[in-house]
Amino acid sequence: MQIVHTIADLRAALAGRGRPAFVPTMGNLHEGHLSLVQQARQHGDVVVASIFVNRLQFLPHEDFYSYPRTFDADCAKLEAQGCDIVFAPKEKDLYPEPQTFKIQPDAQLADILEGHFRPGFFTGVCTVVMKLFQVVFATTGGGVAVFGKKDYQQLMVIRRMVQQFALPIEVIGCPTTRAGSGLALSSRNGYLSDEQRVQAMALSQALKALADAARQGGDLAELEARAMADLRAKGWEPDYLTVRQRSNLLTPADATTGDLVALGAARLGSTRLIDNLEF
Ligand code: PAJ
Repeated sequence: MQIVHTIADLRAALAGRGRPAFVPTMGNLHEGHLSLVQQARQHGDVVVASIFVNRLQFLPHEDFYSYPRTFDADCAKLEAQGCDIVFAPKEKDLYPEPQTFKIQPDAQLADILEGHFRPGFFTGVCTVVMKLFQVVFATTGGGVAVFGKKDYQQLMVIRRMVQQFALPIEVIGCPTTRAGSGLALSSRNGYLSDEQRVQAMALSQALKALADAARQGGDLAELEARAMADLRAKGWEPDYLTVRQRSNLLTPADATTGDLVALGAARLGSTRLIDNLEF
């Protein structure tokens, strides 16, 4: 496995290797990330993973500085999964000058849910992903990019960006990897105490209960409010628990029709977690 840090070195490493399958990450890798690498291996000639904690997608009060950085362990895991190239730029490698050109995503999709509670988040995500796509795919004529459904809205925003800019990239969405308790694996789970880790399973349970209730019919706003109250009673501070149409993340007229997704974001202590469930 090759480890490269600069754009020029990555392009040199990719030359003549065929179609890349690319997995962008912020590192601190767990089984969820590694499942994406396994998918990537089935879809490209050369598997590239990036590790880059992208300052542009963090708000000033968020955890950019404390975000877990475990580079050596990450590389060992990637190598064991058969990753071919790790791209781990320093900030100066990826942003040699301040990144003042930005990608402004579709407001209808990106200013709701996560984008509402984390203003500018998807501008930061789209800008770094577009840049990473240029770095990986501009000299290779396109390829495959793999993202997790764990970050459901992010996957949709990226799909739409790829479509609107006619990028020659096939986006693949992978199912969420969970702990036995149902808790979706996340780099931020490392912030949880042992006690909170037990409490944390309540988020996926709340989404399941909300989906089950919505399937039965009834007023969606009321069901969502009840789901949030129930989660609050378990010590969480929810930002949202909501049922949306999978196609556009808008509120469905009728929640008994299928093609829906229950999405949630909530804080346990100072740790903010997200999860979702298609139904
Ligand atoms: P990060 O949170 O490191 O996630 C990298 C990829 O792993 C994303 O596509 C995410 O959806 C996926 N992932 C995380 N947890 C998962 C799980 N439990 N099961 C399946 N997939 C999971 O998402 C980002 O980084 C950044 O926003 C990034 C796209 C790299 C841009 O900076």
